[in-house]
Amino acid sequence: MKVGSRRWEVGSGETEVGSRKSEVGSGETEVGSRRWVVGNGETKVDFLGPAPWSDGDATRAEETHALSDEIRALARKKNALILAHNYQLPEVQEVADFVGDSLALAQKAQGTGSDMVVFCGVHFMAESAKILNPAKKVLLPNLAAGCSLADSITPESLLDWKARYPDCTVVTYINSSAEVKALSDICCTSANAVSVVRSVRSKRVLFTPDRNLGRWVARQVPEKEVVIYDGCCPTHDVLRGVSVKGQRNRHPEAVVIAHPECREDVLAMADEICSTSGMVEAVARHPDAKTFIIATEWSLVYQLKKRYPDREFVIADGCIGCRLHCPYMKMNDLPLVKRSLEEEVFEVTVDGEVAAGARRALERMMAVPRDR
Ligand code: 13P
Repeated sequence: MKVGSRRWEVGSGETEVGSRKSEVGSGETEVGSRRWVVGNGETKVDFLGPAPWSDGDATRAEETHALSDEIRALARKKNALILAHNYQLPEVQEVADFVGDSLALAQKAQGTGSDMVVFCGVHFMAESAKILNPAKKVLLPNLAAGCSLADSITPESLLDWKARYPDCTVVTYINSSAEVKALSDICCTSANAVSVVRSVRSKRVLFTPDRNLGRWVARQVPEKEVVIYDGCCPTHDVLRGVSVKGQRNRHPEAVVIAHPECREDVLAMADEICSTSGMVEAVARHPDAKTFIIATEWSLVYQLKKRYPDREFVIADGCIGCRLHCPYMKMNDLPLVKRSLEEEVFEVTVDGEVAAGARRALERMMAVPRDR
């Protein structure tokens, strides 16, 4: 099969992608030092037992454990709380005091007596933690860890949409900058978006910036007129229904669990649609299911495997993890977390007036319960 200048031979033969070449059959394929089980176009992440970050390499596993111990000791010394999002590298999730979705992390950042928060996530998450905890030092181990979805809306573009829809209450997803939050009436996360939209008094809502989440929310709150901004998360938006269908054909008994940042055709196939931590909880609602098709960023599988070692989790795109991969979420690693604690970098700060506006929108959100 020819796709543009790339040639794909799919079946039991070999596959060429650009200059890379891998053997695909019913056996195993090596990608870097990781082992991926590939058969009939199916992909599974094999975390190789209890030390997934080691890639089966004992020396690396030892180094990782030693580095993790140093990080924990430093965190104790500095009374620092380490938070990690569900999409962080497995070894970063392991070193954290708490791993969760955006809402849980924002709540956790608020609810402890720590002096410092090391936020292993992306910039808008650390920024939200700072806004909610102005007295705490909030550190992001890698300042380059941004978010394409947050970048899809600027204060100028929001002002433009607000001018076009002046009678709308503005509900903004937490994946946005502090400046955009400050121009919004209330924030939401994927864990409470439906409840937040339902909670606002006005009939008309401008939902920003994620169009997929916005459409999904609008369908569940038919009593509101929802105008939807046109941003998206490229990691989720790239997933097509036809790929999920392929996985479902290969696993006809599987339960499909999707994040609401996925496109409509994917969500139409999902048995469960929830935030990342909600996706972990959702597995427990299917005690008889053996296999789950997971439509979100691949690192969530680490939490899923930890919590449900006897279940099988298949990544929804059927690809070798290249598409459902957020490059920004993978920008924090253990050496950077250690450096962050040692040198107290990189401190996230927010301008006072902007922080006050964003705090108002975030605190209104925090008063709304989770969708379930
Ligand atoms: P959650 O709040 O569901 O963890 O999602 C955050 C995110 O950025 C998804 O792409």
